[in-house]
Amino acid sequence: MSQLVDLVIFGGTGDLSSRKLLPALFQLHRHGLAERLQRIVATGRSEMDTDAFRQIARDNLLRYLPDDDWDETIWSEFRERLHYVRVEAAHAEHYRALASLLQEGHSQGQLYYLATLPALYGEICQQLQAAGAVGEHSRVVLEKPLGHDLASCQQINHQVDQVFSEEATFRIDHYLGKETVQNLLALRFGNQLFQPMWNNTFVSSVQITVAEEIGVAGRGSYYAETGALRDMVQNHLLQVLSIVAMEPPASLQASDIRDEKMKVLRSLEPITAANVKERTVRGRYAEGAVDGHAVKGFLEEDEFQHAEDTETFVALKASINNWRWAGVPFYLRTGKRLSRRYSEIVIEYRRPPFSLFANDPQELTNKLVIHLQPEESISLHTLNKKPGLRSKLKLQPVELHLTDDQQRVEDSYDAYERLLLDALHGDQTLFMRRDEVETAWRWIDTIIAAWEENSTPIKNYNAGTMGPNAATALIAVDGRQWHE
Ligand code: BG6
Repeated sequence: MSQLVDLVIFGGTGDLSSRKLLPALFQLHRHGLAERLQRIVATGRSEMDTDAFRQIARDNLLRYLPDDDWDETIWSEFRERLHYVRVEAAHAEHYRALASLLQEGHSQGQLYYLATLPALYGEICQQLQAAGAVGEHSRVVLEKPLGHDLASCQQINHQVDQVFSEEATFRIDHYLGKETVQNLLALRFGNQLFQPMWNNTFVSSVQITVAEEIGVAGRGSYYAETGALRDMVQNHLLQVLSIVAMEPPASLQASDIRDEKMKVLRSLEPITAANVKERTVRGRYAEGAVDGHAVKGFLEEDEFQHAEDTETFVALKASINNWRWAGVPFYLRTGKRLSRRYSEIVIEYRRPPFSLFANDPQELTNKLVIHLQPEESISLHTLNKKPGLRSKLKLQPVELHLTDDQQRVEDSYDAYERLLLDALHGDQTLFMRRDEVETAWRWIDTIIAAWEENSTPIKNYNAGTMGPNAATALIAVDGRQWHE
């Protein structure tokens, strides 16, 4: 892509744009990293002028940026980049007005960020093309959810593909923009230490947890039809799993990394009606207390009264059928209204083949714990001698911290900053390729079909706990417990 790029956000007045995209762009500008970016053109259905939009953007930035990051001087520069154009998805004349605005500037490239209803993505792309707004240096970013199942995902991909090539299409999974997910690549492939032990000879299980405190009030029409499996596992958890499990890539080029992730997704053993009962747990929060505050149950929210078939929690046991991982369970879980917000990956190693120590606590194993949030860190759980004269050779657990926490706090950024920067520079490494998303949907669709066939019940859990008891049982039958 040429030097200067105009970023056009469809859904520019929406929630994602206000909470994530504009704050991320402000931060890139503040750090002097937005030199490729010329104008930011927000589009929406409301009738308003650019000044009114700038005022709304300012209010939202003040609301969503950390207080210390706000700076009036930076704002006065940043506001000049902001523009607003009214665009209704089906109105060709609106796209022509947008196209003529884009022609006025000095940019040679355009980055279209689609953050509207995904059902509109195909139409928006076609209208842009018809208005002459798509050229050799145009790219498109697609927000999730990319469909509701494999068929709808394929349809969106097919429609977008009529206008933008795969090389020009950037499918977002914001978990790939999180620092620790990228650090996993550095840890795995920058060190000789871990690679020889990254397989079923040494690893006994892997856990991936994405726990959230928040509920889903306010997301009615979307969440009622989606549920935790589609909303979180299809994308975020499977993307993290594929980075944990992939083979060393030929290079760090996007295509090499995506080839290896694809192989993992293709090796996932299908969960079918025959084993869905032992492999999955669906949950739904009932009333309870989160962070000391009483909260309603999911079905008590007005918008979800009829959503009896929507899960807000899912736990499952996945198997990767390849030489490296055969026999190693990958336990995944995610849910809303859990006891606290945290995301982590736990690589649990096997116990030594024979124990020499009288007091060897069987439950203590070596673990590599990778925290994604709220804080980002990596620690290795080992055993060593309890110090002192009194204890001869007694073992105790010790955590070795493998990250520089101070630097991490100073250099922290939001995932959307990373991803917007990469999209502006045309780097697809942290974006999902079409075959990845579709393969992930194929695996998820099989689970949903199995749930339907078995009428798999949804178990209640009280808000503020870590999910239904059945999730504890899912892993306890294998002699394990969730890392908490
Ligand atoms: C989104 C889901 O993709 O990710 C939300 O739609 C979820 O339901 C969010 O809350 C979690 O993102 P993060 O970065 O806060 O863990």
